Amino acid sequence: MKALNPKRNLRKTLSLAMAAGLFVTSGWMPAKAFAQGMMGGMNMMHSADVKLVQEQGDYRPLRIPAILEPDETNGNARHYTLIMDEGQTEFREGSQTATLGYNGSYLGPTLVLTKGEDIKVTLRNQMEEETTVHWHGVLVPSIADGGPHQVVNPGTERDVSFSVKQEAATVWYHPHTMGKTAEQVYGGLAGFILIKDDNELSRNLPAEYGVDDVPLVVQDRSFTQGMQFDYPGNFNPDGTLGNTLLANGTIHAAFDVTTELLRLRLLNGSNARIYNFQLSDGRPFMQIASDGGLLNEPVAIQSIRLTPGERAEIMVSLKGMNSGEYLDLISEDTTVLRLNVAGDLKPNGSMPVTLNQLATAVDNGTVDRRFVLFGMGAMVSINGDVFDMNRVDERGITDQDEVWEIYNRPDMMGGMVHSFHLHGTQFRILTRDGALPPLNERGWKDTVALDSGERVRFLVSFDEPGLFMYHCHILEHEDNGMMGQIEITAK
Ligand code: C2O
Ligand code: CU
Ligand code: CU
Repeated sequence: MKALNPKRNLRKTLSLAMAAGLFVTSGWMPAKAFAQGMMGGMNMMHSADVKLVQEQGDYRPLRIPAILEPDETNGNARHYTLIMDEGQTEFREGSQTATLGYNGSYLGPTLVLTKGEDIKVTLRNQMEEETTVHWHGVLVPSIADGGPHQVVNPGTERDVSFSVKQEAATVWYHPHTMGKTAEQVYGGLAGFILIKDDNELSRNLPAEYGVDDVPLVVQDRSFTQGMQFDYPGNFNPDGTLGNTLLANGTIHAAFDVTTELLRLRLLNGSNARIYNFQLSDGRPFMQIASDGGLLNEPVAIQSIRLTPGERAEIMVSLKGMNSGEYLDLISEDTTVLRLNVAGDLKPNGSMPVTLNQLATAVDNGTVDRRFVLFGMGAMVSINGDVFDMNRVDERGITDQDEVWEIYNRPDMMGGMVHSFHLHGTQFRILTRDGALPPLNERGWKDTVALDSGERVRFLVSFDEPGLFMYHCHILEHEDNGMMGQIEITAK
């Protein structure tokens, strides 16, 4: 992909940023020294804010990713193929943007999997550069996890297999290529996985894909004059932001709602932007699921913050609205998705009172592992270390409950929000700065936002042995080494 090569442009971008006074340093320090607090006297700032521009004019119909059909089905076994390739995508009428996609030019098809199935996926890389396919939020053996160790070289294939062991959830897949995750995701590599199970089915939630059950990946991009993704021009080592909002790859998207209740599966698939989703008239909505599955009960909220990598399933009630009326899903002041009432809204059930039966996660005061997130830009670290593929940072065993404490250590600039993500498992947040997490964070999570200075404790255990990553999901931070690995051995 020639249009997207930040490696070639990184040096240029950084020196431009320095010339613009974004970074005033006397040279790059080793990250470890940096992490130990040598910021005195330096005038550094985190990220130059790039504001989203509100689109004007006509709305475009929201693209709905196709459901991926298996190549083969045999009892419980399903075989799928995902092809990573370069392509051209028309985001604005009459112009083509060079993009990346799975089985298509931008984003990827949705995999709909059911608990208990045995899945094999053939990954075929038709791009000119290496990639990996990571199953974010999926409980997979480490050999299938698609971390930086599991490269699919250009022109080659790799098969991965796993059994669907977890409960109903909205999870996703994306590349995890060493040093190239940010660029490849920006280019378009990301897709949804919807996991189904009996509990979810029994709750009678809206489940007609693309009709009343709609996946919505929200991303921000910047374009050049020639309508190409301007990743190099906007590259920021603290997280690249764009001024144009895309919902499922659609700029200025509208969706025709035909039912009283609409289930939206929100995914923050952006490299770095944080969204605060709200409805334009301020009406509350119900959050029914967090990253790893259904909450015990729906939680009524007016706004939900999602940092990169996080998901939330929400239910919006449009009951009582008439044909021709609309409601906007917004973030800050920008429209994410216009919801047009198309005709008489059909009744499609009611909000269940109970959704799940997760045991309460209790903080007993112990901490088994501590992680300190620190630094900025190209000098980010976890526990003072920058990622090294050949170093195992932590070791643990399967089926062992552990309490992890993550601390986002502020710096001279005040620090910034990091989103801490752990592979191969789901966890339960115990406390945020010693207090119980909000109701909508009491279900399964695999990615958690930490404000500067904040301390989060969660309860976790691993089902699968092997090597798993944990990292900041601001993708440029991940690429810059704000990542570590834990090796789990079978008990
Ligand atoms: Cu969504 Cu390690 O990533
Ligand atoms: Cu992941
Ligand atoms: Cu970060």
